[in-house]
Amino acid sequence: DWTMAAFRDEAIAKIREQVGDARVICGLSGGVDSSVAAVLIHEAIGEQLTCVFVDTGLMRAGEGEEVVRLFRDSYNIPLIHVEAEDLFLGKLAGVDDPEKKRKIIGSLFIDVFDKEASQIENASFLAQGTLYPDVIESVSFDGGPSVTIKSHHNVGGLPERMNLKLVEPLRELFKDEVRALGRELGLPEHFVGRHPFPGPGLAIRIPGEVTKEKADILRKADTIYLDEIRKAGLYDAIWQAFSVLLPVRTVGVMGDERTYDHVLALRAVTSTDGMTADYYPFPHDFLGQCATRIINEVRGVNRVVYDVTSKPPGTIEWE
Ligand code: XMP
Repeated sequence: DWTMAAFRDEAIAKIREQVGDARVICGLSGGVDSSVAAVLIHEAIGEQLTCVFVDTGLMRAGEGEEVVRLFRDSYNIPLIHVEAEDLFLGKLAGVDDPEKKRKIIGSLFIDVFDKEASQIENASFLAQGTLYPDVIESVSFDGGPSVTIKSHHNVGGLPERMNLKLVEPLRELFKDEVRALGRELGLPEHFVGRHPFPGPGLAIRIPGEVTKEKADILRKADTIYLDEIRKAGLYDAIWQAFSVLLPVRTVGVMGDERTYDHVLALRAVTSTDGMTADYYPFPHDFLGQCATRIINEVRGVNRVVYDVTSKPPGTIEWE
């Protein structure tokens, strides 16, 4: 893509000029934006960049490992991998209010990141994958609570605290353009095309208390759902697709046994920016196939429902 090649070269020149020979820290979330920002900055300043990836234990199956593999092995970008699952789940124990969950995750994330980053000598810049919609909509983002988390996701609050200057090379771009830039930089297609994933991760897809057991059930079910979506060739037509593990148990029958297990809700929406969204009209037999596989393959789920709410009035996430 001609324009993206030009954008890339210009962005690289700007980063070099801004940063000089200082060190830059970049917080990786596992998502597309921060990954593209990191690879771009690495092209510009190479070894002056260190990435910090905080694994909260609230990511989807295999995503943490994939980030580590991609950065360390394919790109050879210095990466500090903090495995913080126990820490995050520990602090979330007994908490069921969505906003409390977000606050706990946000502030814990900053603590962990801060601790790691402060050990990197001479770091004077913090890189963020802030996009144009984040810049213009940072206040109206759903009118409320997710605002803070949006900024947590982009490590908000840290620059002041650590006295770092910001590097935000994606500030002028929309999601589609970030994906195009990622392709230009050689990131694998399946990575670049990933659906957006919220900073608080699976914690807001488990209404009620989050436990490791529930997160594991959700991960298994979600993997099957997304696998079916990919097999049906629908992944790229959908803005976001995910599962929600409901804090409700219902009665079912398996063979000649009675079961009493969780309900899983499937969600899929189309959107251009996440601000409004329509539910995705899957064919019924597709949904039936997902339900059959999930109930057969995932212990702990015995009923599957599909969310047909658009935004507004619903939000994309359930919390
Ligand atoms: P909602 O649920 O508000 O979501 O319709 C709109 C978009 O934002 C994502 N989202 C979040 N992203 N931290 C984030 O980084 C959050 O707390 C958060 N809440 C929602 C959501 O996945 C969708 O893409």
